[in-house]
Amino acid sequence: MSCLSFLTVVTVFCSLNNGVEAFHSIHPDLQSISARSVSNLHRTRYHFQPHRNWINDPNGPMFYNGVYHLFYQYNPKGSVWGNIVWGHSVSKDLINWKELEPALYPSKPFDKYGCWSGSVTILPGQGPVMLYTGVVDKQSNEVQCYAIPENLSDPYLTKWVKPDAFNPIAVAENGINASVFRDPTTAWRGKDGHWRILIGGKMKTRGMAFLYRSKDFVKWTRTKHPIHSAKSTGMWECPDFYPVSLKGGKGLDTSTVGNSVKHVLKNSLDITRYEYYTIGTYFWKKDKYIPDNTSEDGWGGLRYDYGNFYASKSFFDPSKNRRILWGWANESDSKEDDVKKGWAGIQAIPRTVWLDSQGRQLVQWPVEELNGLRQKQVMISSQKLKKGDYVEVKGITAAQADVEVSFSFSSLDKAEAFDPKWVNAQELCAQKGSKVQGGIGPFGLLTLASKKLEEFTPVFFRVFKAPKNHVILMCSDATRSSLKSELYKPSFGGFLDVDLAHKKLSLRSLVDHSVVESFGAGGRTNILSRVYPTLAVKENAHLFVFNNGTEKVTIEKLKAWSMKSALRN
Ligand code: FRU
Repeated sequence: MSCLSFLTVVTVFCSLNNGVEAFHSIHPDLQSISARSVSNLHRTRYHFQPHRNWINDPNGPMFYNGVYHLFYQYNPKGSVWGNIVWGHSVSKDLINWKELEPALYPSKPFDKYGCWSGSVTILPGQGPVMLYTGVVDKQSNEVQCYAIPENLSDPYLTKWVKPDAFNPIAVAENGINASVFRDPTTAWRGKDGHWRILIGGKMKTRGMAFLYRSKDFVKWTRTKHPIHSAKSTGMWECPDFYPVSLKGGKGLDTSTVGNSVKHVLKNSLDITRYEYYTIGTYFWKKDKYIPDNTSEDGWGGLRYDYGNFYASKSFFDPSKNRRILWGWANESDSKEDDVKKGWAGIQAIPRTVWLDSQGRQLVQWPVEELNGLRQKQVMISSQKLKKGDYVEVKGITAAQADVEVSFSFSSLDKAEAFDPKWVNAQELCAQKGSKVQGGIGPFGLLTLASKKLEEFTPVFFRVFKAPKNHVILMCSDATRSSLKSELYKPSFGGFLDVDLAHKKLSLRSLVDHSVVESFGAGGRTNILSRVYPTLAVKENAHLFVFNNGTEKVTIEKLKAWSMKSALRN
């Protein structure tokens, strides 16, 4: 059963949540407590956060009239989940933000108990329309609603209205359970001129994305079949559905179909609290989506991020012809800590997303605008690391940095044998940590390290030899990230699908006080960790490169930058 079905219960902890402190544990006693002041120690300086309080899902991201908008699930009264409204911030570059008044808050019978997640669609010649989930009662029964800007000539679209005619635009009927019926997608328009959206849900334990169609964007009808469903996956939250090009990395408008296009369907799984996506074909005449046989359609499927990253949403940015992905990273400390801190939740750095040239997976990379925050740079090149070497990268602010490094090794002979039973990368990372000697690797970065290494968060690779190929493991390990004990400190991991013919592997890590967000092999496997060091803070944080494998590894090139703080407010 979904955690949300328990909204009336006093305290709920979702189990099976991949450990990522999950939704939305409900703490009525804490949700309206406002901290006297906001604690800065672990606040991010260039990952998005509002000035205080709780945030979760990114909602309705868009580029309109020269301005990027980000809305997000926001608690205006406290720093645990509750009292949910749509917070609103605007930016010219996706990095520096100005926070505005919330755009949506409960004000109508159809959203009296919350304005939950949704999307924006820009209607040609008419402007943006928000579709969102309204919560109608304490049992968290949900309907879908729409809102439009009060004044299209207001450059920031600060005020939104919810027309009474036609709202709500969709209610659960014919056997759909209204408490698992939410999070409308951005709409796309078919060649027949009709608009389509998906709404996340489930039937028994089968996760599904219901499809609705409309001629005029206000009267919507559900189609007989969902666009897609998958057994035993549970509630699908925050579905996202969009085309990707088979011809290069350019992003596509959500309505694009055709021969040189594949489609991506992503769902956020309420039971496990992580997301998976498939790549497949959208048969638009039949309104059916079928994943390719190279994409696993279930819990073991491909993930945007193998760490703390949930309820993501993408949008097409016509100003640079790219698709951009936003994702929420929850805290890994306790609710009590969050109340004390006065804030909880960040957004990952917006990532450009495109289809890999092999067509089997997506690739992601931080938006290029992030480079505008790079300041002082240090560099290392052609430096050999033998087993046990730790080289400090000195001269930058290691608690607030961007690091890009490429490694090479001269032979694959020393790769350890891969046991086919190792199907779960996270378990393998837990077993083979950064200090467990290997053949090729572990090698990588030691981020947020205290001087004497009492605390550190390593991000590293390890190469194994399977009968037919090599298996590459990437880990981001929070186990030793903090001396503090009441924290969730997983050793996240993912496998990397890359060709090792050149015997090279690259890594980029964005370090920002309580987040280490890493991109392996140019963004093929990515992992975001949340950590709360006690010693490795501010100027006492250090950065190292290390190798604990018997095979020598060369740092071909390492570039690290101190990062400026982004402007907020
Ligand atoms: C995902 C989610 C959505 C819901 C929102 C409520 O984290 O559970 O399904 O709309 O959060 O805040």
